[in-house]
Amino acid sequence: MSRRIQAPRGTYDVLGDEALARAALEGHARAILERAGYRRIETPAFEATELFARGVGESTDVVQKQMYTLEGGEGESITLRPEGTAPVCRAYLEHGMHKQPQPVRLWYLSSFFRRERPQKGRFRQFWQIGAEAIGSDDPAVDAESVLLLAEIFEAIGVRARLRISSLGMPLNRLRYRDKLQAYLRENAARLSDEVVARIDLNPLRAFDADDPGTRAVMAEAPRLLDDLDREDKEHFGDVLELLDAADLPYDVDTTLVRGLDYYTRTVFEFTSDELGAQSGVGGGGRYDGLLEQIGGPPTPGMGWAAGVERMLLAGSVLPAAAAPLDLFVAYAKPELRAGAFRLAADARRAGHAARLELGGRSLKGQLKQADRAGARYVAILGDEGTSLKDMETGEQQTVEPGTVMHHISQVSL
Ligand code: HAM
Repeated sequence: MSRRIQAPRGTYDVLGDEALARAALEGHARAILERAGYRRIETPAFEATELFARGVGESTDVVQKQMYTLEGGEGESITLRPEGTAPVCRAYLEHGMHKQPQPVRLWYLSSFFRRERPQKGRFRQFWQIGAEAIGSDDPAVDAESVLLLAEIFEAIGVRARLRISSLGMPLNRLRYRDKLQAYLRENAARLSDEVVARIDLNPLRAFDADDPGTRAVMAEAPRLLDDLDREDKEHFGDVLELLDAADLPYDVDTTLVRGLDYYTRTVFEFTSDELGAQSGVGGGGRYDGLLEQIGGPPTPGMGWAAGVERMLLAGSVLPAAAAPLDLFVAYAKPELRAGAFRLAADARRAGHAARLELGGRSLKGQLKQADRAGARYVAILGDEGTSLKDMETGEQQTVEPGTVMHHISQVSL
């Protein structure tokens, strides 16, 4: 036998109850988001590489190490999408959505691709539910967005802690960056080599480091939140006030760092203890510079994404119920197959869930199969005509073949 081919590392198949749980999760998210005016968007699975390089940021791990980039033909470099915000912003610009009432609210449920080391809750192809509100910098957009994710978590039984902070606008961030870089250089001897190597490129990531030396230095580091200018402070204050008004608990965490470069002002993350090392179940923030970064006019935006696998791990989503089977059609010998086939097809056309014996089983085997499948009625085509068995009462009666549908129509459609 030749070697059996397996699913690539970091990928998985969605089977049975897991597929039903995903359907239920999608149902909850769709209901909550669409009630708030979000409409579904789907963008292509791959985009021009430049979209992510410019949008997500050259210095991020995602762009530097994790993208699946390939030759797209005609000399174009394309990349399997590692995230959804830059593509949604590209679509907003491409379709002139600035002409619609602002903000434009869009949600997605799509798969994304990152070349990461697989572990619990971390895959190379994973799914996200995401929501983006583009075209308004009102703090109420931020608060509403965070609240909607909290509502989804509540609906699916994910208990997660909300951490929130503000990064301010880019100019302010640059000023702070200089200050932080100076502090890191002064303390370079106590930092890990990796952090030292990134002082120029991405000093903020030092807050993310695990090694004790760096952590001790970072505990004393200047905080961006203390350095915000007046407008940014007010914006953040308004966001928190609205979250208070909605009774949503949060921790302001000045060390919160997100892995993507486009964030301005509000950033947030929900973490769950159920997940182990990959504790981030969903997160996002405001990205007021992103649309300009990818060639559009200055346009504010705010959104989040939550990992489907992590939500299923951390939550208690009940699988959506499989549709009940109204009719199972059995037949006693091969010559009766065409009639049975016809009856099952007619029943389905009339809106019933109906199945036909397809496994070549004996009549006894077929009846066992009908029972296992939970059929409400079984029609048995035999030499002496057609009989219909009510599997709930056990009653069996001979019926005219043409009246089977009439008999089972008492099963609710
Ligand atoms: P992100 O934090 O990179 O943000 O990803 C959001 C969520 O996707 C994470 O909290 C996690 O649940 C899930 N996730 C990320 N990587 C993986 C992985 N390798 N395997 C499994 N799950 C994963 C974004 O992607 C931003 N686009 C969010 C956003 C939207 N910001 C503004 N708008």
